[in-house]
Amino acid sequence: MAEILVLYYSRYGAVADMARRVARGVEEVHGMQARLRTVPPVSTVCEAVEDSIPSEGAPYATVEDLQECAGLALGSPTRFGNMAAPLKYFLDSTSSLWLSGALAGKPAGVFTSTASMHGGQETTLLSMMLPLFHHGMLLMGLPYTEPDLLTTETGGTPYGASHLAGADSKRPLSDAEIRLCRALGRRLAHAAGALNPGRPDTSTQ
Ligand SMILES: Cc1cc2nc3c(=O)[nH]c(=O)nc-3n(C[C@H](O)[C@H](O)[C@H](O)COP(=O)(O)O)c2cc1C
Repeated sequence: MAEILVLYYSRYGAVADMARRVARGVEEVHGMQARLRTVPPVSTVCEAVEDSIPSEGAPYATVEDLQECAGLALGSPTRFGNMAAPLKYFLDSTSSLWLSGALAGKPAGVFTSTASMHGGQETTLLSMMLPLFHHGMLLMGLPYTEPDLLTTETGGTPYGASHLAGADSKRPLSDAEIRLCRALGRRLAHAAGALNPGRPDTSTQ
């Protein structure tokens, strides 16, 4: 089975919820599996270390997870219009993969969550793509053939899936946001299957 790495950081749970929906979309494609991974928070105390296995939720990602997977869905909360530092910190540890070109040619997509409607979903999504371009990944968004993209009144952009979590970050994913998360997962899985012709059937189950 080919795997899509669904790699995310989430402080309050919104992006974690999106990640599970993206993973569901990946697994709607026959022969594809999602590998869910997160990253630890970063500390102002540089010597502080976190247990290598988190007490709950997805395991922490390693560079091997990136290397082994056929594609990547990358999720982060919006932090001042940009991705969160823990995810950037992890990406900054991937120079060996950049040197070897291990990610070149693999499909990738991005997703985010914001507190406010115009709080920077698009800027975050676009800036999350930049390091992936440096790795030579093939960036994919969401097409307007997804009807929700035209009608959503909360999250959902052509640059990737998004969620409007509200000021208290407790607003649940809307039906449209859920469908767009799943569409992103499916799209990545289909692309990864098509780019790996050795893989068997990648039609939607
Ligand atoms: C330091 C910090 C900066 C943030 N910056 C923004 C921002 O620029 N725009 C916005 O709409 N929300 C911003 N937020 C809110 C989060 O993006 C939002 O609550 C998100 O849904 C959290 O995702 P999570 O539940 O996965 O942690 C910020 C939150 C924090 C803690």
